[in-house]
Amino acid sequence: MKKIAVLTSGGDAPAMNAAIRAITLSCNYHQLQCVGFYHGYNGLIDDQYVEMEHFDVNPTLQQGGTILKSARCQAMLTSEGVIQACNTLRKHEIDALIVIGGDGSLRGLQAIKQHWEKQVIGLPGTIDNDLSGTDCTIGFATAVTTATHAIDKIRDTANAFERIFIVEVMGRHSGHIAFNVGIATGAEAIISFENFSADRALQKVTELLKAIDKQQHTHGSFLIVLAENLWPGGAQALKESLTEQGKVDSAICILGHIQRGGSPVPEDRNLGTELGLAAVDAIITGQDNVMIGREAGKVIATPLEQVINTAKPVSAHWVNAHQQQLTHYLK
Ligand code: F6P
Repeated sequence: MKKIAVLTSGGDAPAMNAAIRAITLSCNYHQLQCVGFYHGYNGLIDDQYVEMEHFDVNPTLQQGGTILKSARCQAMLTSEGVIQACNTLRKHEIDALIVIGGDGSLRGLQAIKQHWEKQVIGLPGTIDNDLSGTDCTIGFATAVTTATHAIDKIRDTANAFERIFIVEVMGRHSGHIAFNVGIATGAEAIISFENFSADRALQKVTELLKAIDKQQHTHGSFLIVLAENLWPGGAQALKESLTEQGKVDSAICILGHIQRGGSPVPEDRNLGTELGLAAVDAIITGQDNVMIGREAGKVIATPLEQVINTAKPVSAHWVNAHQQQLTHYLK
């Protein structure tokens, strides 16, 4: 009987559990043995092994987080760590390894492939949506929904006080969350990697002040969605620049890890389920060294090498859609 291992790695994402559940149930259906490793690659290095039939995976669809736990693993950046992980796979006679995670986790999987002769399959699990080879990553839709609902609430109080808010959203180094959330909430400004560079900070503040001035003569609140890891000095520095250059007061809200938690939206549960089932099918049909994703409604397999080395930009259409809205304020 073939033995398939699964782990979740890096930043957890809503509906990782849906993928784990689908993998477990599909292995059961195909009479394959399914096992898990806890705490991402750390569990592989330290041999934190669990037989998946001991899990009752059925009630986990609606749970955020990951029942296998997750972690970032510095040891996987060293060849000793990778070799130790491969030794654990050999010790348990694993035939195929499925890793659910983001960019760094898939790089770890590729490193394993260089020292281990069996099959490796990646699944895109990250709220950031910054992986090519899939239109959406598992967890992205939920993160966008959570941030949208939070910002809608901020908008209510911003409207009541006719206030300016800077809301920082996650996304690591990409603007998929910033643009999708900013457009969904009608943010007056979205500042993200795709439309901003640090050397334009001064100019950006001037633009914002003009737009704020125009907006406040009309109907009050002004919402700036700011991508994390972008503005030099962060949201606080932007707030201070607005005050210094324009005598404009603003409030800051950093949404942070609430974007990673919560019950996954149906879209994510179904994506996790579809890709989990497809990962087991891929193993059965002998695929190797690929990530399974969904593009234009179809499940596809993309070589890990390609996924890791190809950026997935935010669509120019989205960036322009927002730019047109901002231009309106600058007229
Ligand atoms: O990759 C997911 C993510 O939530 C990013 O959006 C964010 O930059 C990062 O993880 C935060 O990581 P940590 O929880 O380790 O601080």
